[in-house]
Amino acid sequence: MTTKTLDRTRPPTTGHRRPPGFISRWRARRAERDQTIAAHRLAQAVTAEFREACTALRLCQYVSVAAGVTVRTPRVGAVHGGPPMSLSVELMAGQEPADFTSRENGPRLAHSLGGHGLRVEPLAGRWVRVTVLNHDPLRDRFGLPSLAVNSGYEALILGRTEDGITLGHAFTDAGHLAGQGQNGSGKTNLCYGLLSQVAAAPDVLVTGSDITGLLLGRPWDGTVHRPHQVVGTGDVPAHAVLLEDLVSEMDRRLATIPPRRDKIEATPTTPLMLVVLEEFPGLLRAADALPKPKRGEGVPVGDRIRSAVLRLLSEGRKAAFRVLMLAQRFEATAVGGGYARDQFALRISFRVPADSLAMLHGDDARPLGREHANAAAGIAYLSGLGRDCERIRVPYLGEYGEYVDRIQAHGRRAAS
Ligand SMILES: Nc1ncnc2c1ncn2[C@@H]1O[C@H](COP(=O)(O)OP(=O)(O)OP(=O)(O)O)[C@@H](O)[C@H]1O
Ligand SMILES: [Mg+2]
Repeated sequence: MTTKTLDRTRPPTTGHRRPPGFISRWRARRAERDQTIAAHRLAQAVTAEFREACTALRLCQYVSVAAGVTVRTPRVGAVHGGPPMSLSVELMAGQEPADFTSRENGPRLAHSLGGHGLRVEPLAGRWVRVTVLNHDPLRDRFGLPSLAVNSGYEALILGRTEDGITLGHAFTDAGHLAGQGQNGSGKTNLCYGLLSQVAAAPDVLVTGSDITGLLLGRPWDGTVHRPHQVVGTGDVPAHAVLLEDLVSEMDRRLATIPPRRDKIEATPTTPLMLVVLEEFPGLLRAADALPKPKRGEGVPVGDRIRSAVLRLLSEGRKAAFRVLMLAQRFEATAVGGGYARDQFALRISFRVPADSLAMLHGDDARPLGREHANAAAGIAYLSGLGRDCERIRVPYLGEYGEYVDRIQAHGRRAAS
């Protein structure tokens, strides 16, 4: 006896009166079924990988049962092939989304799933969506639209985090800002972005010292900010004079804080003084290279600059002063001492060696240093203001001419 098995993967060969379009409908059904099988296999494989990785990284619970100890891992719901691939996961009691993206677990879990990084977003209840990112989410540069805030209280765009969140920063709510990075790592571009956004605010005055004369100075010609800026190395004592004048203004403000207030609020009449110190160690070097005055005939220019900046850093916050200091490396001696360095509430490090990273962000940041030592321009670590050290990409404004155009377009001018 012969038996004939029905091959359901082939269209029936008999019968001349097939309905029109039968073959194509049959092919579509088969493709759909193949796809469902493939998706199911992928889901099984990804779930198994995820659970194994969770066990290896101890993102699991050990439960004692009669037969011994069993391992419970977070439950995986749906798996979507993507790209980017994502899976819904039910966190176990006591787990937080951040446990999966922490510095220790995030990269390992992502590599186990064949990706570069993970993004974890809450869904509902204990369920989260884990997205496996195929490449460094900060790889691509992003532009900064020509925006200008109407007040120093409004948040400026500072950068974008690895999980795609845009970070804002209002100069009024924070303390001083420090930016470090090697040559060409993106420090000045960060300031191009911040200053062009704040240039129009009536309650902010952009003042400071810039020995390069590119960030401050000429681009600001014709604006109310320009008379409060000193640039170049032609007259180094002028930088000390400016900074001492700022200290006098700070003292005047501190002496006139209204009763029942402990700080000056920035307004158009007492604007927030944003003191930009571009390449500050370079300014100190230029000042220290000047001939020293004879004993009893005045204070060396370098010391005058150091003590003015130290006072602005330690007392300026209450008087609506914010210092934005840039340096290639925040070594204590290069920036006016360890005490001065400790006053920065918000710290940003572009490409730097590991010891420089630890110098500004603390020893916990040292393990991040190896990879960051080769970071592309515009990628930085940011810490402070309640945020752990996290990697961000700073927006790119464009060519230098674009910065000049934006300052000319938005820079506040005297009312005529
Ligand atoms: N956020 C960014 N995204 C992409 N590219 C950037 C970014 N920032 C800077 N770059 C690139 O890096 C170059 C150098 O940037 P920038 O002048 O800001 O560096 P720097 O750290 O100030 O260097 P230096 O110490 O020499 O002053 C820019 O011309 C630009 O091509
Ligand atoms: Mg620069």
